[in-house]
Amino acid sequence: MILAVCLNPCLDRIVFVPQLKVNTLNRGQRRLVSAGGKGVNVAKVISALDEPVRIIGFFAGSAGRFIVDDLEKRRVRTQPIWIEGQETRTTTNILDMATGKETEITEPGPEIGQEQLELFLKMYRETVRKASLVVLSGSIPESVPEDIYARLIQIAGEQGKKTILDTAGGLLANGIQGLPYMIKPNIRELNTLTRADSQSLDQIKKQCDLLHQKGIMNVCVSMGKDGALLSCKEGFFVHPAFSVDVINTIGSGDAMVAGLAVSMERGYPPFEMLRYASACAASNASFQEIGVVDRYQVRNLLGNC
Ligand SMILES: Nc1ncnc2c1ncn2[C@@H]1O[C@H](COP(=O)(O)OP(=O)(O)OP(=O)(O)O)[C@@H](O)[C@H]1O
Ligand SMILES: [Mg+2]
Repeated sequence: MILAVCLNPCLDRIVFVPQLKVNTLNRGQRRLVSAGGKGVNVAKVISALDEPVRIIGFFAGSAGRFIVDDLEKRRVRTQPIWIEGQETRTTTNILDMATGKETEITEPGPEIGQEQLELFLKMYRETVRKASLVVLSGSIPESVPEDIYARLIQIAGEQGKKTILDTAGGLLANGIQGLPYMIKPNIRELNTLTRADSQSLDQIKKQCDLLHQKGIMNVCVSMGKDGALLSCKEGFFVHPAFSVDVINTIGSGDAMVAGLAVSMERGYPPFEMLRYASACAASNASFQEIGVVDRYQVRNLLGNC
């Protein structure tokens, strides 16, 4: 079983408006509501790829209930730590149908008390024992300490469990102190982490080598439509983006992380791992909804029909 950690889930709401105007009433024509947050997206994709997956994190109120129910319907086992009297955040995307441009509004997550954090850590420790791999993704509520990922990675490491970390900024810089087995930054996140401005593969390879020296053995860097690379002890592998009819690339990084986790679980060699993860990422890009892949499309892209 793969364990996905999602400390800051959200309800993703996309509202389609004919033409967005500020300071006046905008009538939405259509809306799309889905369970979101990076860890939730990862768990949804792992389940769609037919691997057993559990999710652990903080959930609150009716939005939290909606996400948990949605995940259970998708065969994701949930271990929510419920935060009473509060509400899981909603992220609203206003899609201007005239221009195709998006305006995003985020909300703060719930306030997590010391007691709830302790409860989470206890539950996490117990569940990690049953997991074969732990994936940690996304942001955290403001009240959770910034070293949380390093701590969670250390706990998994003490039990001999591999970890994949996908986060950004200070959380990534802090999280790598726990020595995750793999990280999956996009190119911007890698450059921020290593205080560099790498563009070429040669430059990126040097950044990956620096991270290997620090003890991060597997670095997968995603480069949007320019594909992805995997640097590990077996070598430096590059894969182009698969060609699909692109509708929405948000969450393709999450689908890639899910593909990496599934292929790690199945023991794929490094290049196959990168290829499989790239096919999952491309499949996500061919849907409007975030955190969705079609495993038959993945299989077709890989040419194994
Ligand atoms: N236009 C595209 N066509 C096909 N595949 C794509 C496209 N854009 C991205 N991908 C695939 O998705 C992978 C991840 O994309 P990207 O680097 O944008 O991730 P990200 O920034 O982490 O995304 P997010 O955090 O929103 O999930 C890429 O490495 C590539 O394989
Ligand atoms: Mg990402």
